[in-house]
Amino acid sequence: MSESSGSVSLASVVAHAKAYGFIYPSSALYGHLQAVYDYGPYGSVLKARLRSFWMRSLMQLRRDVVGLDAAILMHTRVWEASGHAAHFQDWFVEHLTSNRRYRVDQLIEEKVQSYTAEGNTQAADKLQKTAQAMLAKLDKKGLRELLQTHEIVCKEAGSAEWSEVRELNLMFATQSNSDASEESQLYLRPETAQGVYVNFEHIQKSLRLKIPFGVAQVGKAFRNELIARQFTFRMREFEQMELQYFIPPDTHTEWFAYWQKERMRWYAVLGLKANKHLRLRAHAQLAHYAQAAADIEYCFPFGWREIEGIHARGAFDLGRHSQHANKKIQYFDAHTNTHYTPHVLETSAGLDRLVLMLLCQSYCAQKERLYLALPAALAPVQLAVFPLVRKDGLPEVAQRIVEELQAEFQIVYEESASIGKRYARQDLIGTPFCATVDHQTLADDTVTLRERNTTTQQRLKIQALRPYLAERVHIHSLLKKLCD
Ligand code: GAP
Repeated sequence: MSESSGSVSLASVVAHAKAYGFIYPSSALYGHLQAVYDYGPYGSVLKARLRSFWMRSLMQLRRDVVGLDAAILMHTRVWEASGHAAHFQDWFVEHLTSNRRYRVDQLIEEKVQSYTAEGNTQAADKLQKTAQAMLAKLDKKGLRELLQTHEIVCKEAGSAEWSEVRELNLMFATQSNSDASEESQLYLRPETAQGVYVNFEHIQKSLRLKIPFGVAQVGKAFRNELIARQFTFRMREFEQMELQYFIPPDTHTEWFAYWQKERMRWYAVLGLKANKHLRLRAHAQLAHYAQAAADIEYCFPFGWREIEGIHARGAFDLGRHSQHANKKIQYFDAHTNTHYTPHVLETSAGLDRLVLMLLCQSYCAQKERLYLALPAALAPVQLAVFPLVRKDGLPEVAQRIVEELQAEFQIVYEESASIGKRYARQDLIGTPFCATVDHQTLADDTVTLRERNTTTQQRLKIQALRPYLAERVHIHSLLKKLCD
């Protein structure tokens, strides 16, 4: 992983991701469906490895976390109970002449940042606090006036002639063809968390789990984002990796601190350090049900942005489902001989945002070389094998190496172009190691192994390749670091 991604531009990352098989705009043949992206041959593997690291760090390394794969479609009443039907919306304004739409909170955030950049921290603070209070009270008139007073203008028209502030629910609605006895209007889930809450009793009882315990789930979520910019940072279809950790009442302070630390430790194993690449930011304004909340932020080329949220949600979720389903959802604590509604500590990361973060962080453009310094254990291709020349029996030896190792590692075999060009091609997709078979191989069974970041080469026996690579490119090398 590179030490700094400070100077990388988003445009370079987007172009690289498209050119080298990581991420493509969706339906590009028909002009690109906005805010939807497809992961290419390398991007899909990178994403799968990251997903696997997250799942295994929780389900394999811990005795108190189990997994779930709940459906994307859920009963409509779930969204009434969760509050999404009534409250999951963005506030937006439209410019009266350009007709461009903007999210009010984003316009305000940009202005706060520009005040801060000018050194006017007092104005920045005041604007932020006033806007937060207005957003909490849903003061549409006040928000519109605030945009005008602070001369927050449309980027296209350059003026502050704004429409009324309006709201738009972010849930994607769809239709079911089932008979009239069931609700026919359905929603694609806007978060994976609710699948865990509605299955709490099944999971706890069938596995006889004792609190505290957690349920980890990775899956697609859908949000009809009003404004989709910044590549895969804000998508309409995306993937979340969420942990719902069930705790006794009145213990959230310690668990909130514990999970913030744990999650930062997970990122550190990927080479992303606290206070350098990442920062924790406590929410100044809490949702009405939250007891505490903090975001983990990464400094993207467009600024510090949230990649994961950590939320102490109290008894809100299970309490609401109890109420709406008219069914007690409680846990019996045998030690204290009491029944209670478990509280929830949630960690919620966006898988796509983490992939984007890794691409930005690992993009290393040097004078003569461009490479992706991805963590070796996440790289899509783990080893490239090259015969130095296409003769003298070298391709045969190289192919035998591929056959011996392919069941365990993702390998690319290449024999065309100069060795320098072959290295360069692997650098572009972040392959951590390239093994070259040359004439010396025929004499002593060694190959040169070239490391991506340093370009240093060492000679290694063919038999030593397997253990050498296993230590460095398997997910378990990351898991072991987490155990230290
Ligand atoms: N269950 C809690 C929850 O959904 P959230 O802060 O709305 O919380 C959690 O979302 C994470 O999901 C975010 O930190 C972000 O990484 C990711 N996320 C949210 N909306 C997204 C979008 N439109 N595109 C990509 N990732 C998104």
